[in-house]
Amino acid sequence: MSAPLSRRRLLGAGGVAALGLGAAFGLPPLMNRLLPGGEPGRLLRSALPLPARHTAELPVPAVLEPVRSDAGADYYEITARRATARLLPGHDTEVWGYQGTFPGPTVESRSGRRTVITHRSELPRPTAVHLHGGHTPHDSDGHPLDLVGTAGHHDMAGMPGMADAPGLDGATVLPQRDHTYPMAQRAATLWYHDHTMGFTGPQVYRGLAGFHLVRDEEEAALGLPQGPRELPLMIVDRSFAADGSFAYPELPGGAPGVPDAYMNGVLGDVMLVNGAPWPLARVDRAWYRLRLLNASNARRLRLSLDPQPGGGGALVQIGSDGGLLERPLRHDSVDLAPAERCDVLVDFSRYPAGTRVRLRNRLGDGPTGEVMAFEVGSAADDGFRLPEKLSTVERLDPAKAVNTRTFVFRKGERYWTVNGREYRPGRSIAAPRLGQIEVWRFVTDFHHPVHLHLDPFQVLGRAGGRPGANDAGWKDTVDVLPAQGVEVAVRFTDYAGRFLLHCHNLEHEDMAMMAEFTTTE
Ligand code: C2O
Ligand code: CU
Ligand code: CU
Repeated sequence: MSAPLSRRRLLGAGGVAALGLGAAFGLPPLMNRLLPGGEPGRLLRSALPLPARHTAELPVPAVLEPVRSDAGADYYEITARRATARLLPGHDTEVWGYQGTFPGPTVESRSGRRTVITHRSELPRPTAVHLHGGHTPHDSDGHPLDLVGTAGHHDMAGMPGMADAPGLDGATVLPQRDHTYPMAQRAATLWYHDHTMGFTGPQVYRGLAGFHLVRDEEEAALGLPQGPRELPLMIVDRSFAADGSFAYPELPGGAPGVPDAYMNGVLGDVMLVNGAPWPLARVDRAWYRLRLLNASNARRLRLSLDPQPGGGGALVQIGSDGGLLERPLRHDSVDLAPAERCDVLVDFSRYPAGTRVRLRNRLGDGPTGEVMAFEVGSAADDGFRLPEKLSTVERLDPAKAVNTRTFVFRKGERYWTVNGREYRPGRSIAAPRLGQIEVWRFVTDFHHPVHLHLDPFQVLGRAGGRPGANDAGWKDTVDVLPAQGVEVAVRFTDYAGRFLLHCHNLEHEDMAMMAEFTTTE
């Protein structure tokens, strides 16, 4: 899909000046110089010896059972609580986990069948739960002030450090909330995570994240690898204190955000996949489906297999944030910014039995350059044939757009901003009409993975050119590089109300790089 020439010109250097956005580009050269290797953040080193790589077995999160089902819906209950986990050998780590586990249990939904999740929390702080990628009415979307928690946290404005935070009066902490997900959406890899006003970074870091998979008939008909050959992989970086606890540079006194030194983002030096450090998975010589999710706070990933099989193209992408692509795309490596997903197939029969295949992160170095490994076992022909066509993806035609809006993501005086302003709950900065196509333009000073709630979008172009190699299909998060413009076509549907757009670098998000838009009939 190529952007019309005029639009491309508009996003080029001259175009940005013409838009009067020159100021948005004043910062990046300086900020880039502050960053080693182009990493969006600052490394917090672990205070304990890092564990050996490729010894822990890859865990796979359990699939949550509904507490009941009726003709139209499945009902689940999830309680967030503190628990002790053995993430590193010889150390206990306190996690904040859904059902006490990190990652949380995997929820599986059928497209078109309602899923109702009652969320509760026994955590010391209130929590809001968002289903990322969900096509969800606003009252179930997990707005940062839709909090659940225990008695004693009824007023966030009364929390230390929150007194001068804007818009917090009226934040109600309920003992439980029912989130109703109509699931009127196609099969895709979604994830649920904490979305608490000002504290999403530390709370996701402690473990509040899980997979939510949506399945449908179209996908089932493809006969993709399943069961033990379908692996959801939640990749995060974390740092550990000497006693094995998660290390995160919180501000003293319970204030939201991190010290200035970490404002660009918090990076850890231990890579966890499904909660295990640099794990090992034993695989058959067969096709596997890897649902890759970067759930890191700030770290960007460039994932590739090492060694590459003869002929390359080992990572066969079949889906993106919003589900199946039209056709498979072969990659040698895949870039994933925080919150992005990539659904890939890997044919391990391309490797001789006994090969150890490492999943590496080419944007990391030393320990963070490694993610996990696969040990290829003996022959096992599964008879799977990669389909040439996967799905039909409706193109959102930018020529039919009724509106073009520009959102500038940049550093403000104190915090991060969208269009020059810090987040304030209840202040809407755009009012798109339901059912209409719009072109939204994101321009940045720095690395900002921009995420929209409610509906996915399609990338039309970036940096004045074509979409990037990882921009295919329906996306809900797009990795906007420093001093770049990315243009997307979006069409919000079904649900009127207020929704969020924000940077998914969680330190940026907590420090105000978020805004609300209101969809209208
Ligand atoms: Cu994954 Cu508004 O978040
Ligand atoms: Cu979201
Ligand atoms: Cu950002």
